[in-house]
Amino acid sequence: PQVIFIDAQDNQFEADIEVGHTVMEGAVDHMIDGILGECGGVLACATCHCYVDPAWQDKLPPVSEAEADMIEAAVEPKANSRLSCQIEMTEALDGLVVRLPRSQY
Ligand code: FES
Repeated sequence: PQVIFIDAQDNQFEADIEVGHTVMEGAVDHMIDGILGECGGVLACATCHCYVDPAWQDKLPPVSEAEADMIEAAVEPKANSRLSCQIEMTEALDGLVVRLPRSQY
């Protein structure tokens, strides 16, 4: 399934991410600038922060308490903020649109 990443300058990148991999892992594998994933996906860094397109928000599993706590540590959190290491790819997420924050620090 494909994920569409849009950066703060509106540049668009598409990446094929295997089912079962997280959006963070896929972004790192495809060298998408803006997703760092420094903690390796264990909810300890918030450098995988992204904004999920509102049309897709309901299709994702809900934000856990631990994720919500870490989102507070991200730069410019918004209502549609997610940590991309907590989004596991499924076929149903083909075409998912994710916006990248201006900065992870
Ligand atoms: Fe560190 Fe997602 S990679 S919280």
